[in-house]
Amino acid sequence: MKPQPLTAALMAALAAISAPNASAQSAPAIPGYTMGQKSLAKAPYTLADLESLKKTLLFTDEDVRYLRMSKAILADQTEAVLDVWYGFVASTPELVFYFKNNKTGAPDAAYLGAVRKRFGQWIADTANANYDQAWLDYQYEIGLRHTTPRKNKTDQADSVPLVNFRYLSALTIPVTTTLKPFLAKKGASAADVEKMHAAWVKSVLMQTILWSHPYVRDGQF
Ligand code: HEM
Repeated sequence: MKPQPLTAALMAALAAISAPNASAQSAPAIPGYTMGQKSLAKAPYTLADLESLKKTLLFTDEDVRYLRMSKAILADQTEAVLDVWYGFVASTPELVFYFKNNKTGAPDAAYLGAVRKRFGQWIADTANANYDQAWLDYQYEIGLRHTTPRKNKTDQADSVPLVNFRYLSALTIPVTTTLKPFLAKKGASAADVEKMHAAWVKSVLMQTILWSHPYVRDGQF
């Protein structure tokens, strides 16, 4: 008699835990998430350029392994991670400014909510560490979405026209510092947590460098 309710409770708990991850993996269900779509422009940098950038960042196959190790650890923590990151942006006036609604002057909740869904997918994509042409082209697209004229278009937001360049790579530090406790929550050894964290720092910095392209004068990236 007793095992059945227990099993039911366990099933319900597992379903609740796996729900965010399941939605994060069904990429087409996320409005505005267009990785791999033909409509995307080809990145103005090549996979060979990416290899050279990786070398400079000391980003190796070991980092790929540790990013992939982080995937299962983060899978059922995505919403909690996003709560922390959004909490940081919301409580930092210099940053929440970029989600401001031009008419009301207040943060645009619909815009924040729409971007958050793609941010959740970005956690999974970063942990996948699958650096093919589709990924590279989407890095270019993400850069464009932080800049004029592409910012706001995906979500039809009425907001400020660009994220200022100086904040882009800077956000690597709060994003990866606040991620570390989540990496440690599932019983990985301290050494593995350090290596996953280091891999995330390198990957996020690498991505913000790729996203910087639209800010840089022609020929100087
Ligand atoms: C480590 C640095 C950063 C990371 C990892 C990051 C990540 C992301 C991701 C994953 C998206 C959604 C991309 C997509 O559409 O698929 C996004 C969009 C956006 N981010 Fe960032 N971002 C960073 C820096 C910043 C900074 C400093 C700001 C300033 C508040 C910012 C504001 C925005 C805004 C406003 C959008 C929506 C752009 C649009 O209108 O499409 N981001 N970001």
